[in-house]
Amino acid sequence: MSEGTAVTSGDAIENLLSEARTFAPPAEFVAQANFSDEAIFAEAAADPEAWWARWAARLDWMTPFETVLDNSDAPFAKWFTGGELNVSQNCLDRHVAKGHGSRVAYHWEGEDGERRSYTYDDLLDLTERFANVLLGLGVQKGDRVAIFMPMIIELPAAMLACTRIGAAHSIVFGGFASSALAERINDADCKVVITADGGWRRGKQVRLKELTDEALLSTPTIEHCVVVQRLGDQLDHPLGWVEGRDKWWHELMADAAPHADPTPMASEDLLYLLYTSGTTAKPKGLMHTTGGYLTGIVASMEMVFDAKPLTDVYWCAADIGWVTGHSYIVYGPLALGMTSVLYEGAPDWPAQDRNWEIVERYGVTILYTAPTAIRAFIKWGDHLPAAHDLSSLRLLGSVGEPINPEAWMWYHRVIGGERCPIVDTWWQTETGHHMIAPMPGITHTKPGSATHAIPGIDAAVVDEAGEPVPNGHGGLLVIRQPWPGMARGIWGEGGRERYQHTYWSKWPHLYFAGDGAKLDSDGYLWLLGRVDDVMNVSGHRISTMEVESALVEHESVAEAAVVGMLDELTGEAIAAFVTLNDEGSDGRDEAAVRAALLEHVAERIGKFARPRLLVFTQGLPKTRSGKIMRRLLKDIAEGRAIGDTQTLQDAAVVEQLQATVNALRA
Ligand code: PRX
Repeated sequence: MSEGTAVTSGDAIENLLSEARTFAPPAEFVAQANFSDEAIFAEAAADPEAWWARWAARLDWMTPFETVLDNSDAPFAKWFTGGELNVSQNCLDRHVAKGHGSRVAYHWEGEDGERRSYTYDDLLDLTERFANVLLGLGVQKGDRVAIFMPMIIELPAAMLACTRIGAAHSIVFGGFASSALAERINDADCKVVITADGGWRRGKQVRLKELTDEALLSTPTIEHCVVVQRLGDQLDHPLGWVEGRDKWWHELMADAAPHADPTPMASEDLLYLLYTSGTTAKPKGLMHTTGGYLTGIVASMEMVFDAKPLTDVYWCAADIGWVTGHSYIVYGPLALGMTSVLYEGAPDWPAQDRNWEIVERYGVTILYTAPTAIRAFIKWGDHLPAAHDLSSLRLLGSVGEPINPEAWMWYHRVIGGERCPIVDTWWQTETGHHMIAPMPGITHTKPGSATHAIPGIDAAVVDEAGEPVPNGHGGLLVIRQPWPGMARGIWGEGGRERYQHTYWSKWPHLYFAGDGAKLDSDGYLWLLGRVDDVMNVSGHRISTMEVESALVEHESVAEAAVVGMLDELTGEAIAAFVTLNDEGSDGRDEAAVRAALLEHVAERIGKFARPRLLVFTQGLPKTRSGKIMRRLLKDIAEGRAIGDTQTLQDAAVVEQLQATVNALRA
């Protein structure tokens, strides 16, 4: 397989499954590993509740839990009921109380080169003060707070302050458009929004406050907008300000009392909402709760990342706006008292070796990033990492999309110096924490395979009937037993039914993840991508429906169909097939319409959702019953030979489309 080939094409799947290379955990790693005895797999499987209860006991509980798992309202499992705890207390106070207050929580680095280290003392101080600010703004236990911020220290502090007073946060990734922010704020009836005057991305200012102002034109529940001054004097655009509603973070903080007691939260109290794309145009606000979520995160940090709080410098190079950042930049590392790197910007700014410079500067020991980034690093050249001392690294992680074997091998060889185990972690916004991943001191890895479910997780590959497939066969990935970090449902009216329908209706007793998977002849799991209408672009989930509905909203569009197509760098890219209205078609400037449509999608969803390929067509290929044949569009977008078109209403449409795509590519 060539470098950068994504894994979902037919050939690639065959190649994957004949992948014969295996890598035993290096002896030196095993000698220091948190877990090196494979007996723990059997131990956890024999009594999963006892297993997870042992992990839960690692947390500080204000009131001990009585029941480990209550699944009487399946699939709405409850974990550690009767117990009370506070997440910010677990992430901050308890480390400080043990004398670790001066340990660095985050080495923060701004994209513009600004650097600052924040200790656990510092972060606790920010959190307590901001908790008082929120209380002063009228935020109460159970309220929702929207967060639309760059990767600055105030972001984890704001999250922790919410949990300190029992409010739930709803973070919206800073790359989203104002309408996407408004939609999420309205779905959750958020009371307060926290943003910044801007942030840096590839040397440009991200206009977060401007986007927030636009969103707040249609969000009746927002009472206050708190604005962190990130850019200050450097701001290159006017800053809108609504008196009474808008308040500077630093001014509020200057007046805030320094101490705020952590509120006891029931184990099943809401910790946060995080919106993710499903198969409809409306994003789902997944609900994560307190005790089980934190338990699962802590367990996976120790098992999969082999976390060693006293000696590691850990860097998850994701954005806090996605679940990876929630779990593995904020809650996981802080719950363990780790020292992490928090980097604001892009990996290629000001130069393409920025990540390696950061690894060298802080002596990063654990690096967690996405295959899309790894493929970009490969493209940028081996000389960049070679120019830096990466010898501090001891473990490498991958997340968000299938990693192709060649990218895995490059990561292993060039970044890991052939001494670092690679943990390819499969999980989802819905699962809260790692589910399928190697145990780095135990598992013999294969490049491109996420290997096996972690101890305590019961995953299987099943056929349409829900029966496990034998080794060597493919099917759908399911989880058979409840796990502590699982989402507890979807927020809002009808959310209960929507949750049940989306994940638990194919087979009522199995969680259906939406991913295809195969077991190889040794029983290793290979993830093969989504089987539904969800695309995965650079590890980010976008539904085809979301992009379609943005397109058809535009006045010049009559019909649109969107599919994901293989992309060497981003895994998948978005391809849109659009039929324009007849009205105004005389003398229409297609290039201008194309540009307008791309811009429209960026404005409705965000720049990351802009189609890579946009094809105008007189008609879309449909079955005789009128269903758009997406698989065919995918073949066309990927330049594959088209099979039987017998069932089509109009086979000529297909030929025409192929010719148009070829012409666009030429
Ligand atoms: O298709 C799988 C893919 O990403 C989806 C989950 O996306 P999201 O909720 O945004 O969470 C991403 C970060 C956890 C999954 O359904 N996915 C995630 N990790 C992997 C993966 N596909 C293959 N291998 C992975 N390691």
